[in-house]
Amino acid sequence: MRLENRVAIITGASSGIGKETAMLFCQEGAKVAVTARSVERLGQLCREIDKSGAKTLYMRGDVANRDDMREVVSRTINTFGKVDILINNAGITQDALVTKMTKEQWDKVISVDLSGAFNCIQEVVPHMIEQGSGVILNASSVSGIYGNIGQTNYSAAKAGLIGMTKTLAKELGRKGIRVNAVAPGFIKTPMTEKVPDKILSMLIERTPLRRMGEASDVAYAYLYLASDEARFINGAVLHVDGGLVL
Ligand SMILES: NC(=O)c1ccc[n+]([C@@H]2O[C@H](COP(=O)([O-])OP(=O)(O)OC[C@H]3O[C@@H](n4cnc5c(N)ncnc54)[C@H](OP(=O)(O)O)[C@@H]3O)[C@@H](O)[C@H]2O)c1
Repeated sequence: MRLENRVAIITGASSGIGKETAMLFCQEGAKVAVTARSVERLGQLCREIDKSGAKTLYMRGDVANRDDMREVVSRTINTFGKVDILINNAGITQDALVTKMTKEQWDKVISVDLSGAFNCIQEVVPHMIEQGSGVILNASSVSGIYGNIGQTNYSAAKAGLIGMTKTLAKELGRKGIRVNAVAPGFIKTPMTEKVPDKILSMLIERTPLRRMGEASDVAYAYLYLASDEARFINGAVLHVDGGLVL
């Protein structure tokens, strides 16, 4: 098993990519602490995973709330003794053309998608420094690389995560902590359910692999980057987009 004896915190695990990643990491031997705002969905997920004998912990937490994230990290350490892997996966969209985007829409997406990751990182890094090892993975997006109409807020947050990933890879590498990002293309999850069929068909047409991604396509990328197989990979942005951005 590729993550035996590892402890992972996964944010935004009540749905989509985060949920799939929690299941995969448990299959690979990790103990997993999951957080999101919908505690009922997290409970269902953990009860399902626990049937296989894996060890999970679930906690309600809003990544934009620093106190919530402090509590998530401290309860994970109290329960499992350490944190080896942090996946900053929680994210939202609130799309509008720039002329129509409200200040609230801008602030909300920046506070969850960008500041949310910063909150978790600042809470977890002192523990990782103390143990001399750790892996941090951030969920960026193709929108953060090449922009997307209607997503000024989201693309700014996702591009910000790439800058944060590279800076932290430089700051923390010498402490034994690797920091990388994934940049998914269009993945079938509740987040993309609202995208009109016409736009989805156009995106599939532009994707060399001619399909949307599955949540598991991204979960496997997280797994690789979290595992020792990626031990010399630091500061990278792994595109998981079927070749959409080339
Ligand atoms: N799907 C795609 O095509 C795509 C493409 C590129 C990047 N991504 C990124 O991949 C990540 C996962 O997306 P997904 O497609 O799996 O979306 P999703 O199914 O909508 O899941 C998003 C997750 O984030 C959680 N979340 C939202 N706001 C939160 C908050 N304030 N605090 C804590 N958790 C919060 C949600 O749970 P609650 O609502 O219960 O809090 C949910 O578990 C996101 O960062 C997204 O931006 C997705």
